[in-house]
Amino acid sequence: MTTSAIHRGLAGVVVDTTEISTVIEETNSLTYRGYPVQDLAARRSFEEVAYLLWHGELPDADRLREFRARERALRPLDRSLSELLARLPATCHPMDVLRTAVSLLGAEDPAEDDGSPAANRAKSLALLARLPVVVAADHRRRRGLDPVRPDPELGYAENFFHMCFGTVPAPEVVRCFEVSLILYAEHSFNASTFTARVVTSTLSDLYSAVTAAIGALKGPLHGGANEAVMHMLEEIGSPERAETWLDEALAAKRKIMGFGHRVYKHGDSRVPLMQEATDRLVARAADPEATRLATLHAALRQAMLSRKGIHPNLDYPAGLAYHLMGFDTPAFTPLFVMSRITGWTAHITEQLAHNALIRPLASYAGPAQRPVPAAVR
Ligand code: CMC
Repeated sequence: MTTSAIHRGLAGVVVDTTEISTVIEETNSLTYRGYPVQDLAARRSFEEVAYLLWHGELPDADRLREFRARERALRPLDRSLSELLARLPATCHPMDVLRTAVSLLGAEDPAEDDGSPAANRAKSLALLARLPVVVAADHRRRRGLDPVRPDPELGYAENFFHMCFGTVPAPEVVRCFEVSLILYAEHSFNASTFTARVVTSTLSDLYSAVTAAIGALKGPLHGGANEAVMHMLEEIGSPERAETWLDEALAAKRKIMGFGHRVYKHGDSRVPLMQEATDRLVARAADPEATRLATLHAALRQAMLSRKGIHPNLDYPAGLAYHLMGFDTPAFTPLFVMSRITGWTAHITEQLAHNALIRPLASYAGPAQRPVPAAVR
């Protein structure tokens, strides 16, 4: 079968409608359910944004209180998940751990096959509550440390720091993390969300869709870029080397991690806010190593703009911010998962509400039809 037009990478193809988020081209801004994401990040908590993405409206005080209480009650992990964590090799990537953990949660959920909106909302909230506990426990075990129990007195972001480090940092650090969670939460039909929608479109279950989405996010052209940014900064080593390194990398046709975007061609609208929050972390750290990294980060951004006219995407400031917050580099993409679980599950619900099997065509370019030779004896 042939097709008249081929859209490699589905670039420019509009696959369906969505009411969840959009990038407004004229203003280069991203909105969640109509609200500019910068305003949400400046004024609202990550829990409120999660509620907004799932329910279409921001919660009032009573609904928020109830939502927070439910999230906190769902945090503790079952024994089987703790045992799984202990069994997986510490050499595997944290994204593999997370993918396997979601798969196990699906296998153990007695309501796995109930795809009703209410059941899916309950599963989504349980994932929102439990994924950080898995990420934190895995982060600690790689450092040879025992897990720290979630604290139901602490908010989502604070509790995560508590579970990772046994302590909650200064409010500006927690706020910077929360800004990253809000900015990462949702981005329309990106590769991992689309993956979740493809799986859902076959009427498979929510855990299968999220497991597949985690696999898609892991790649360095998508969520894996925040981790790759840090590896790249380490490879460059010093601000003085930024330009030479970039020229050599571009000459070798390497993709520069944390730069470029399929949708934004004149700059990612999420970057200024994340960069400001990261700059505040650098100033707060007042540490020569942090200043050196920030100088290198800025030098590479400037060089990339002058050489290629390509702007950074959200992963560029987020990667540096997560390093300055004290997270180990392989944990960066799991932090993205903790946030994007909200967008993925909102899209799963939307896909199910007016489902159509996602099944594109291909233009065949293989051998012409030919006879099968006689079997070899
Ligand atoms: N480094 C070097 N060249 C680049 C880059 C980059 N990061 N991004 C785009 N280009 C060049 C590309 O080589 C191409 O040049 P030419 O026309 O000469 O072949 C031109 O810009 C157009 O790029 P493209 O590959 O057609 O753009 P795309 O929309 O297919 O790719 C992208 C988007 C994100 C895959 C790409 O920009 C990239 O590989 N970036 C690095 C990885 C990265 O930061 N990913 C995170 C994406 S955003 C957040 C997220 O989803 O996590």
